[in-house]
Formats: sequence, structure tokens, C-alpha cells
Amino acid sequence: MKKVSVPVTNDLCPQTLFVYGTMNQDQTPNFGLFCWFSYCWLGDDLGVMCAIGSSKRTLENIRRNKVFSANLVVEKNLPLADYFGTADGRDADKMDVDVSWEMAAQLPVPVLCSSPFVFELEVERELAAGVSDSTVLLCRIRNVLKDESLTAEGKSSQELFREVAAVCTSVDNDYWAWDGRYLGKWHERAKEIKPDVEIGAAAMGN
Ligand SMILES: Cc1cc2nc3c(=O)[nH]c(=O)nc-3n(C[C@H](O)[C@H](O)[C@H](O)COP(=O)(O)O)c2cc1C
Repeated sequence: MKKVSVPVTNDLCPQTLFVYGTMNQDQTPNFGLFCWFSYCWLGDDLGVMCAIGSSKRTLENIRRNKVFSANLVVEKNLPLADYFGTADGRDADKMDVDVSWEMAAQLPVPVLCSSPFVFELEVERELAAGVSDSTVLLCRIRNVLKDESLTAEGKSSQELFREVAAVCTSVDNDYWAWDGRYLGKWHERAKEIKPDVEIGAAAMGN
């Protein structure tokens, strides 16, 4: 197949979505939506690297606490996840929604009950690239939490992927199911959680 050069883009490279859970200074939880997330090796251990752009409540909390959770976004919690990626964590009413959460098993971080797969992460190093106001965090995976049903023996990867129903996205501002079904536009599904939600300043740059 002939290849052609195009302007720099990652538009056909699907990105997995995670809701990051952090604790505010007053020990209440905050959740934000993120997709610039991938993996790396830290010595012999699997690690996580994630990019966070511009100033936002999630980054303030991570810098202060050095720990956070990354909760896999799945079809059943996509409206809530999209809401967390729309409302600004510095607005007092962001967390005034019906959200079922609990503390993680190993680290003092909040996790979403509706997420079947959760990383508990501790920041190992912050790479302030100095080329923009975004930053990259290298993180140790301190624990992984899975819904117990996903640990039953005998299920194929295909069955597990179907059961999990992870959501992905791209810079096209759309959400897609793992099997290719269209799931809606960024900031639209959030209206199922709060019909009059406004796109916060922190979400504008992403
Ligand atoms: C689909 C989607 C993906 C996003 N991914 C990122 C990301 O990877 N990095 C980032 O800095 N912001 C990302 N955002 C924006 C944040 O979710 C947004 O700034 C939100 O306000 C963060 O929550 P907070 O204000 O409570 O910190 C994304 C938003 C959406 C809708």
C-alpha cells in the first residue's frame, strides 16, 4: 500500500480512557478524565506514564499527594467519566453528583466503584518538559484492583474484553466502543449526569 505524508497527527491511534481519582486538601475526592496514558518499564516493574496539560485540580492534588488512582472508563460509566472531563475540579459544585466511590486497597486514593479495573499509582518522577505548560508523570503501579468476576479462570481474552467494554477515543473528540460502535461526542454524554454542565476552563485545552 502506498503511503503519503500528512500533517502531524495521532488521529487514527486509539487512546484508552481513565478517570484519575485524587484527594482534595479537605479529604474529599476529586475525579478527572484523562487519555494521554501509556506504559513503560521502571527497572523490572511495569510502570505508567501520563501527560497532564495545564493547571487543573487533578494535577494540584497529584503534586501535593504524589498518589492517585487511574480507573478504566467503560461503557456503563462513560457519562460520568465524560462529566469528570467536562466540569472543572476547581468549581465547588463539580462533585455534587451521584458518584459511588471507595478508598483504594493500598494507597490513600479514591476509586470509582463502577470501574472494573483500577491502577493505584505513586509518582516516581515528574518530567517538566519545559516546552509547554503540560507535564509528564512516571508512576509506579503500587496495586491493581479488578472486579472479582474478571479473575475467574477459563474466560478467553475476547470474552473478558467484551465483559469489560472499555471505551477509547482519539483527537477527533469522539468516543468509541472497543468493537467499533460509536458512543458519542466529548462533553455530550456529560449532560446525562448534569444537563446544564458547562465546559470548564481546565478542559478547554484538551
Ligand atoms: C476525552 C477527554 C480526555 C482528556 N484527557 C486529558 C489528558 O490526558 N490530559 C489532560 O491534562 N486533560 C485531559 N482532559 C481534560 C480533563 O479531563 C479536564 O481538564 C478536567 O477538568 C480535569 O478534571 P479536574 O478539573 O477535576 O482536574 C480530557 C478531557 C476529555 C473530555
